[in-house]
Amino acid sequence: MFSTRVPQSLEANRITQAVHRARAESRPIVDLTITNPTTAGFEYPDSVLDGLSSARSLTYAPQPFGLPDARRAVACDYARRGLRAPPEHIVLTASTSEAYSLLFKLLCAPAGDAVMVPVPSYPLFDHLTALDGVRAIPYRLDYHGRWTLAYDDLDERWTPTVRAVLAVSPNNPTGSVLSADELATLAARCGERQAALIVDEVFADYGLVDGPAGPSVDSVRIAQCSRARAAGAPLTFRLGGLSKSAGLPQVKLGWLLVDGPGALVRDALERLEIICDAYLSVSTPVQVAAPMLIESGALVRAQILDRVRANYRALRTAAARHPAIEVLHADAGWSAVLRVPSTRSEEDLVVDLLDRDGVLVHPGFFFDFAHEAFLIVSLLPEPRVFADGIRRVLERADA
Ligand SMILES: Cc1ncc(COP(=O)(O)O)c(C=O)c1O
Repeated sequence: MFSTRVPQSLEANRITQAVHRARAESRPIVDLTITNPTTAGFEYPDSVLDGLSSARSLTYAPQPFGLPDARRAVACDYARRGLRAPPEHIVLTASTSEAYSLLFKLLCAPAGDAVMVPVPSYPLFDHLTALDGVRAIPYRLDYHGRWTLAYDDLDERWTPTVRAVLAVSPNNPTGSVLSADELATLAARCGERQAALIVDEVFADYGLVDGPAGPSVDSVRIAQCSRARAAGAPLTFRLGGLSKSAGLPQVKLGWLLVDGPGALVRDALERLEIICDAYLSVSTPVQVAAPMLIESGALVRAQILDRVRANYRALRTAAARHPAIEVLHADAGWSAVLRVPSTRSEEDLVVDLLDRDGVLVHPGFFFDFAHEAFLIVSLLPEPRVFADGIRRVLERADA
């Protein structure tokens, strides 16, 4: 046996067995767990990938943080949302997952240092931290009509080994956006304790509240940005990428923006340059195509935004006929959370939904919800499919 830090794959639980059974029997499944926009019936412009075949990509002239034109295009994308992002503080990555890995290498010594991770949140954090030999210390988000950060939990669990706090805003799957106050408090805690703040903003374009850009999402980010450079502010990293902002997960282009007091930013960039130079993982064609991908991605983003808003509205309307079921408030993102009667376990309910109703949803425990019973649904499916699946979910959960 060799020693490894690779986490074991999840034990086949009853839900995965039920999925295999349905597939083996060729039973159709209404999949309300999809997160892949490329298979969700959106129209991608024919020309969207044209930039990838540019002859300019035949020359390899790698730069650790990426080609200047591509980094300028990302800076312009921040400007679209009202944020000033100097291109020289932008680092291109192959994905957000890779951005996390670079930051863990930058900030943490393996087998000792820790990062604080929100719960409930993105399930991949367990793997991403373990793969870099970093300990993940959870801190709670609580729901009281809206999701809020549990400061007492954060403070109690904080140890001297904490090198960074991860915040996901908008969060997956809760759809919660940290308020300006919460972000300022988190930043102050990090600043006082010499920890970095890592803010994952991949869903920032998908405000579920009607309006041009989801006002709640933008106002918070702007407030955070202007404070981030003040003395006492922490080193801050903002993560984004085309996977969500342009519905293009397959082109593999993400980025991180380094922000904070000048000396900390300069030091972080110097060290990041060494790490990025060791990998040079973002392909030249995608960097050359970046300005075009970002521009044409806007058409896909608009469709996704319309879809998630329409599905969220439809979900709330349908759930209103089932008083025992609550759709939790969400500000933004691609998913919604339903609180359902806990007359049986989440696992029993999800298996029943698959076996008897042909619908797949995620149980709350998949995202480490503190107690039962919650179901998580994706807002990405085509509206007819979504409405049909939701009707079955509500009827079964209310039975
Ligand atoms: C919060 C969050 N961050 C990052 C990602 C993944 O982004 P990428 O495809 O750029 O690695 C996801 C994917 O669902 C996510 O939910």
